[in-house]
Order: sequence, then structure tokens, then C-alpha cells
Amino acid sequence: MSGVRHFLRDDDLSPAEQAQVLALAADLKAAPYSRRPLEGPRAVGVIFEKNSTRTRFSFEVGIAQLGGHAVVVDGRSTQLGREETLADTGRVLSRFVDAVVWRTFGQDRLDEMAGTATIPVINALSDEFHPCQVLADLQTIAEHKGRLTGLNLTYLGDGANNMAHSLLVGGATAGLNVTVAAPAGFEPQHTVLAAAQARAAETGSCVRVCADPRAAVDGADVLVTDTWTSMGQEDDGLDRVGPFRPFRIDAALLDRADAAAVVLHCLPAHRGEEITDEVLDGPRSVVWDEAENRLHAQKALLVWLLEQRT
Ligand code: CP
Ligand code: NVA
Repeated sequence: MSGVRHFLRDDDLSPAEQAQVLALAADLKAAPYSRRPLEGPRAVGVIFEKNSTRTRFSFEVGIAQLGGHAVVVDGRSTQLGREETLADTGRVLSRFVDAVVWRTFGQDRLDEMAGTATIPVINALSDEFHPCQVLADLQTIAEHKGRLTGLNLTYLGDGANNMAHSLLVGGATAGLNVTVAAPAGFEPQHTVLAAAQARAAETGSCVRVCADPRAAVDGADVLVTDTWTSMGQEDDGLDRVGPFRPFRIDAALLDRADAAAVVLHCLPAHRGEEITDEVLDGPRSVVWDEAENRLHAQKALLVWLLEQRT
């Protein structure tokens, strides 16, 4: 088990390591077939317990471009759906594949499988974090703004969801100043905020939580939003529309940001809710580059994790 590295949350990469992965992502975007660590083909397990379009396609295509074979399965059709333990599943999958990519619910599930896996386990979205998405977001921001350090990023919406958490921790790791603007009751988890503050202290950036969407976007270089209702929250009994309306990114809110600000959304978008068509389809939106960069950033992550094996 020694030497295996996992990517379960954004701070599983140090600032220097994250920079290495992002540099490799840029190289792979320029030369998609230049690295073939999975030649053989060696296999990667890709397991989904929630719906997916981008993550599924980008991992399956990316693994093929690295010379490998993706075993893509719906978790419910495996023995995971019949309560085989996560620890036993980690042991067994380690005998078949070189890495496991897994979209699941609680972060504790990822921790449990990683506890016995002798291969890298990659979080393809959990209730708490979406770190692969944020690697792609950082690649996209760097492409459009020419740098990451010192930029002001404002996320608007559900401050307690996976994207808010990953932007806080992953953004601070990259040296971005991250503001989360969220309605009362939807603030980030305290432990995640503390982790982001620790990273910010290391990189010289800052993180903050703000209840006023207008003040939060003033002068921002990057605006990000996400659905107000994440997968699994459909029946949680909370009003996930009313309190969020002032946090929608529309033309008026965007006008308060820096004149060269870019807008990101991990997608799928709920057009007219968290973001208007005018903004999503407008000249400041970089969401299609952001979606494409899932492919390049995840290939870089896989190459980097496989290189860490001892
Ligand atoms: N952004 C993202 O993870 O999209 P999918 O749910 O389609 O994979
Ligand atoms: N926060 C969203 C992200 C989807 C990619 C969700 O978890 O549903």
C-alpha cells in the first residue's frame, strides 16, 4: 500500500503538486496522445452512483487516449449495490485495475475504499467535493486570464455543496482569493472553510463567505455558479429557489465584476435559475472550454498519480 496517492479532495495535492498537474494538463491539451502510461491496455475502473455526462465521457475518452481501457459501470449493478463492504471492494478492485474513479455520495465512502485500495482512488464527485471539476476550472481560468495567483474568484449559490467546497480548497491551493456568496443557512461547512483558510495561509491568498451577492462580485475576475439543487438533494425539504434568487448570475450582476471577468459553470446548467441564457451564452462565458478541460485535467491527474507509485 505504500506510495499510493489518492485524489479524494482538493487538498490531497499540495500547491506545488497541483501546479505540476495543471502544467501537464496544458501539455496534454497541446499533444493529446503524447503520454501512454496505460498502454497494454491497462484498465481503470470508473464507477457511477449518480448521473453523469461530462465526467463519464471525459474519463472514458481520456483513459483511451492514455492507451488504457475504462471499465465503466453503474455502481448499483455491482455488489456495491448489495452492500459488499467498501473495504473489500477496494481490495478486490486493486487486483484488476490501475486506478478507480468513483462518483458517490458521502466522502466517508471514498475514505473507506481508499483505506484498503493499493491503487489510486479518484473522487469523481461526492456530496462534499468535486475536485476533478476544479482542476478543469483552474486550467480554464489560467488559459483565459494568463495566471491564477492573486485573481479574485466569486462563487454564488449553494455554499455548502461540492463545488463551493472544492473551489474554496482548490482555489486557495492555487493562490486564488475565493469568495463564497450564499444565502443564510447555505454557508460552507466549517471544517472545509478551515481547510481552505489553512491553504490560503500557505499560498498568500484569502477566502471569505459573504451574504451579499452584489458586494461579493464587485471587481471579481472570475464568477462561478452551480445548480441550487445538487444530486441527492431533490427531496431534502429545503427551499432551494426563493433564498437563491438574488444570487443568480444575470447581466446586471455580471456588470459589477471586472470588465474582463469570465464566467464558469460546471454544468449541467438550470438556465434561468442560477444563470441566465444571456450570460451563459454570452461573450464572457467560458463554460464550453471548461467542459472540454475535464478531459485534459483528468488525463494529467491520472498520469501524475500513476507516476507517484513506488
Ligand atoms: N460537471 C459535471 O461533473 O458534469 P456531469 O455530472 O455531467 O459529469
Ligand atoms: N453540485 C452539483 C454538481 C454537478 C456536476 C451536483 O452535485 O449535482
